[in-house]
Amino acid sequence: MKIALIGYGKMGQAIEAIALDRGHEVVLKVNIENVEDNTIEKIQQADVAIEFTGPESAFDNIIRCIDAGVPVVSGSTGWLSRYEEAKEYCTRNNSALLYASNFSVGVNIFFAINKQLAALMAPHPGYNVWMKEIHHTEKKDAPSGTAITLAEQVIERNDHKKQWVNHESRQPEDLVILSERVDPAPGTHVITYTSPIDDIEIRHTAHNRKGFATGAVLAAEFLKGKKGVYGMSDVLGI
Ligand SMILES: NC(=O)c1ccc[n+]([C@@H]2O[C@H](COP(=O)([O-])OP(=O)(O)OC[C@H]3O[C@@H](n4cnc5c(N)ncnc54)[C@H](O)[C@@H]3O)[C@@H](O)[C@H]2O)c1
Repeated sequence: MKIALIGYGKMGQAIEAIALDRGHEVVLKVNIENVEDNTIEKIQQADVAIEFTGPESAFDNIIRCIDAGVPVVSGSTGWLSRYEEAKEYCTRNNSALLYASNFSVGVNIFFAINKQLAALMAPHPGYNVWMKEIHHTEKKDAPSGTAITLAEQVIERNDHKKQWVNHESRQPEDLVILSERVDPAPGTHVITYTSPIDDIEIRHTAHNRKGFATGAVLAAEFLKGKKGVYGMSDVLGI
């Protein structure tokens, strides 16, 4: 499979290593120093584009891939206020988009556990739920895209939580997400249900970026030749 890497930073380079290991070819690498190569014609040399740039550029990059008619896997976080627009543009232009706030298999299993735990805890208002996420200091967005996904999964199942906030709050309807930035830290997410009697806590800790990169390549293999909008649960069947 021929891959275009839009964003050749920490994630782009980790993805390249996995893609080459799995017998794929990288036909385009774009970063901030060679944005002039980020053209429809060059993207069209690839079967799939994998986009890991960041909050400011993700949306435009996704739209460019859709215009090129090349399926695009995006892992950039912090741009989700425009996700519905991107989905609609993709569908209207009969192209393919797969976004995931987190590509690691372990985190996607953690998402499934989070949904089950949220459903079990929903009838027990004596427990207050809150979250903590820890990442490296270069991370531009807070809370993490993964934390937002986890929070939305809880809010959908818990009538007492109406919205997430990224600061301490005593309002019972706020789901508090605390963000810590320390080095080195590939990514930790903790969800705690706390009561005067006991606490229940689930935690996922990434040890390195390999899990995200492997998942992104699996997603690209899945998306090649497809039309439509997908998520990691489609790739993993969970
Ligand atoms: N979904 C996931 O599983 C997952 C995992 C890790 C990181 N991320 C997200 O992926 C993104 C990238 O993370 P990273 O750690 O590789 O960051 P990074 O800063 O190491 O790399 C970003 C790359 O994008 C390039 N870039 C920036 N603006 C660009 C533009 N306008 N056009 C083309 N290239 C541009 C930079 O030059 C750099 O090469 C972040 O949003 C991060 O939160 C997602």
